[in-house]
Amino acid sequence: MHSTTSPPRAALAWPSGEPYEDYQLGTLKSGKEAEIFLVERRFASGPRLLAHKRYRPRYPVKGQLRGEGFSNSTSYRGDATYKASWFLPTRDKKAVMGGSRYGHELAGRLWPIQEFAMLTRAWQSGASVPYPVEQTDHGLLMEFIGDESRAASKLAQAGLSRAELASAWEQLLANLRAFTEAGLVHADLSAYNLLWWDGSLFVIDLPQAVEFTTNSDAYELLHRDVANVGEWFTRHGLAVDVEAVYAELLALAW
Ligand SMILES: Nc1ncnc2c1ncn2[C@@H]1O[C@H](COP(=O)(O)OP(=O)(O)OP(=O)(O)O)[C@@H](O)[C@H]1O
Ligand SMILES: [Mg+2]
Repeated sequence: MHSTTSPPRAALAWPSGEPYEDYQLGTLKSGKEAEIFLVERRFASGPRLLAHKRYRPRYPVKGQLRGEGFSNSTSYRGDATYKASWFLPTRDKKAVMGGSRYGHELAGRLWPIQEFAMLTRAWQSGASVPYPVEQTDHGLLMEFIGDESRAASKLAQAGLSRAELASAWEQLLANLRAFTEAGLVHADLSAYNLLWWDGSLFVIDLPQAVEFTTNSDAYELLHRDVANVGEWFTRHGLAVDVEAVYAELLALAW
């Protein structure tokens, strides 16, 4: 198989085995069902900024959300399409697909595990995603895209020039190829799950990513992804051919 993207960002040599201390710098973003916290991990060789994505407890006891630093309201992902391919014992699978409290709690614990696994596979494929640092109790720690003064903008809000828009599209294509070659579909791709930082595009938010081999909706989801982002670029002045891109990716997937 030929490689269409550069290898994982090797420049980002993550200190391994080096002692560190973590400092909580506060809430970065409050999303639909998870919240992103900024953490500074101080190694002897220097500090690294991390994003800690923490999923809110589905059935919090009184005071728990506030006690754990979460903001208020939340909503939950229920879409069976994504969960359909989770490998689980039959009983758990039935619970996760159903609406029981046990099922909800189990799914709540599985989403961050699923996200970390998908992020790791995407990273290994050479896609431009935050470096997956580690799994935590109800979340995951990853490289923070940004610096001490600000976080990367969502593509939808980055106000790109024409030239930057063209570069973003090229980078997105490279990412789509890397995902596809690795057998993955993001399945929630949009200008809100792409970050723009210093001329580079990053793909984020992967809990719902699926595989071609285990999810029969994967091809449809890929088409939806390409159409979503393709229409966004077209609306913003860079006309792109959604069907041609989809056809190219299909060929890679086979
Ligand atoms: N690694 C990161 N570096 C910098 N910012 C990040 C990172 N991960 C997430 N963010 C910020 O947090 C926001 C929410 O993250 P994410 O999309 O993963 O969660 P979500 O629960 O799907 O939220 P939303 O409902 O906003 O889509 C992102 O849009 C982005 O602004
Ligand atoms: Mg998101």
